[in-house]
Amino acid sequence: MEAKIVTLPGDGIGPEVVTEGVKALQAVADRYGHRFTFEEALIGGCAIAATGSPLPEETLEACQQADAVFMGAVGDPKYDDPRSPVRPEQGLLGLRKGLEVFANLRPVKLYKQLLHASTIKPEVIADVDLLVVRELTGGIYFGERGRESVDGVRAAYDTMFYTEPEIERVVRLAFDLARRRRKKVTSVDKANVLESSRLWRETAKRVAGDYPDVEFESMYVDIAAMRLVRYPGVFDVIVTGNMFGDILTDEASMIAGSMGMLPSGAIGAHKPGLFEPIHGSAPKYTGQNVVNPIATILSAAMLLRYSLELDEEAQAIEDAVEAVLAEGYRTRDIHEESTILVGTREMGNLITERIRLKG
Ligand code: IPM
Ligand code: MG
Repeated sequence: MEAKIVTLPGDGIGPEVVTEGVKALQAVADRYGHRFTFEEALIGGCAIAATGSPLPEETLEACQQADAVFMGAVGDPKYDDPRSPVRPEQGLLGLRKGLEVFANLRPVKLYKQLLHASTIKPEVIADVDLLVVRELTGGIYFGERGRESVDGVRAAYDTMFYTEPEIERVVRLAFDLARRRRKKVTSVDKANVLESSRLWRETAKRVAGDYPDVEFESMYVDIAAMRLVRYPGVFDVIVTGNMFGDILTDEASMIAGSMGMLPSGAIGAHKPGLFEPIHGSAPKYTGQNVVNPIATILSAAMLLRYSLELDEEAQAIEDAVEAVLAEGYRTRDIHEESTILVGTREMGNLITERIRLKG
């Protein structure tokens, strides 16, 4: 197969982890006889510095014409000032919208070698293997917002807005994915308070009617947050709105042991998908070869599975990650005594070597 992959290293540690992900993809290409071409483009803070825009037009166009997009992270403390007129994150939001990738798949898996790093109490640890399907191109991230003056005091507002079709397409996708897993969907909302959540709940329930073989429940987001840290094993597929999904997946990463372990893949009705680790640009670790590239390497596996439909190749990456963890190699975030501490590059090399070994 031939595929064109646009890489967006972005800011901070983004370039370091993308380098390792690209190595893994190249190893897959070599082993299975595919040809992947990589084209790099700018996004985020580095794009602002070079062009003034966090998402230059050339970048969006290159991404739209690619078979898949592989991103690192965006974010730079230079733009932390709340009054800053332009922010790196706008680039990412614009890209998600521009690619119409409405569903963000965020699998959460607790590897048995990383039990020590998980926040879950040893006595409740069940098999944690859940998938959060986060709505990605709507909700409060994209609703009307603004500032105004009310009776002489400063005020600001954001709007959580969803249309029924926006809810329906992401919920349907969650059910389709659940059918290939343990056949349970939990729809998470705040329907006791928010009108947009009441529409979400109604729509989810209606869609559930088309999937009698899949167990379905609706849950308030506060309760879901609580259950997730206490009994994560009860979840299979969680489907939820943009902001709830953002928050719940950072929480869920602590169950997996580290932000550095969670990949993500954003997909829509058409190609290409957008694949990125859930973590940010971690500016304070930039250039130190200490961060964990596994989230990014597993995102490369998702790219193969969801955008290129190369299941066996995706599995080869996932198996290589598992093998390296089983052999005791750890980056600093997941290191414990008696395991072997390695840097970003070394972890990438170890995984890549194992991908290259024919099974
Ligand atoms: C994520 C990130 C982004 C988000 C930021 C960087 C805009 O936190 O991908 O989870 O909030 O979606
Ligand atoms: Mg987030």
